[in-house]
Amino acid sequence: MSADKYPENPFYGQDFISIDQIQDLEQIKFIFDITDQMKGRVEAREAVELLKLYSVAILFYQPSTRTFSSFVSAANRLGSDVFANQNMEKFSSAIKGESLPDTIRSIHQTTAADAIVLRHPDNKSSVTAAKYSEVPIINAGSGVLEHPTQSLLDLYTIYSFKETFDNLKIALVGDLLYGRTTKSLAKLLALVGESNEIALVSPDDLRTPPDLVGELEERVQVTELDDLNEVLEWADVIYMTRVQKEWFEKEGRLDDYERLKEQMTLTSEMVDMMRDDALIMHPLPRQGELRYGVDEKIQAKYFDQMRFGLYVRMALLTSILRQDAGELF
Ligand code: NCD
Repeated sequence: MSADKYPENPFYGQDFISIDQIQDLEQIKFIFDITDQMKGRVEAREAVELLKLYSVAILFYQPSTRTFSSFVSAANRLGSDVFANQNMEKFSSAIKGESLPDTIRSIHQTTAADAIVLRHPDNKSSVTAAKYSEVPIINAGSGVLEHPTQSLLDLYTIYSFKETFDNLKIALVGDLLYGRTTKSLAKLLALVGESNEIALVSPDDLRTPPDLVGELEERVQVTELDDLNEVLEWADVIYMTRVQKEWFEKEGRLDDYERLKEQMTLTSEMVDMMRDDALIMHPLPRQGELRYGVDEKIQAKYFDQMRFGLYVRMALLTSILRQDAGELF
C-alpha cells in the first residue's frame, strides 16, 4: 500500500465518532498505510513531529489503561501540546453539575485544542459533544455501543498477521450485549470483506442485540452460538471479551454477573485445539475469561494488538488534523 494512491484524505477535519463513518476499504487502506509509517518511525526511534504547534485534549469519564495511554503517547510523539484528564467524572466541574456541552466548549477555549478525544459512559456522548464542539471529536469509547478507534486497531492487528481483509472466520466471544468493542468490530469486518464469516459466541443472556445481527447478516454470514468449543478449530481469529461488570452493577444485577462472568473462558488446553496460525485477541482488561496460561501460546496476539493502538491513533490524529496526511511520507 502506498499513501499517494489515496490523495484524498477522508478523515481531515472530521469527527470520528462511529465506525459507521467508514464507508469503504479505501478509507481503511488510507489510515493503515499511515499506521505502517508510524510503526516504522516509532520502531526506528525516528522523530515524527507532524503535529508540532497543534493541541489535543483527551477527556476520559471512564477508566482506561490502554486507550488513554496510547492516545496520550500518540499525541506526545507527534509533537502536539496535550491536555489529558483521565478522571473527568471526579476532577472536572462535571461533579458540580456542569453539562458535557459546556465542558467541551470550555476545554476548547482554555486549551485551544484542535481535536478532542472523549471517553464517556453515555451512548450519545460523542454525538452530543460533536454537536457543540468547534473542533473534531474522536470517540474513545461511548456507552455500550461504540468504540471505533479500538476496531481500527483490531482490524489492523488482524491484517498485520493475516494479510487480508476477506475470507476470514472470526469468533467474537463473551459479553456481546454490553461490550462495545465487538459491536464496532463486527460492523467493520462485515464492511471490509463480503466473504468474512462471523460467529457470535456468548451466553444466551449476553447476545448481540438483534438489530445489529440483522444488519450484519445483510452483508456476511453470521452464526450465533453459546459454546466456545465449537469455534476452536474453525476460527482464524478468536476475539475474547470480559463480561462488563459495571453495567450489571448499574442495573442492580450483580447476581447475574457472578453467574455469567466465566461462562466463556479460554484456557490453554482449549488453545491447543486451535490452528497454529489462528489469532487470539482481546481488547483487555481481562477477568477470568482469558487464562494467563494462554499468554504463552503462539496464537496470543493481545499484547501486539495494544501496541498497534499507538500507531493507529498516531495515524488517526494526523489524518484528522492534517489535510496532507497521505502525502507526508
Ligand atoms: C474496552 C472498552 O473500554 O470498551 N477496553 C479498551 O478500550 N481496550 C473493553 C472493556 O472495557 O472490556
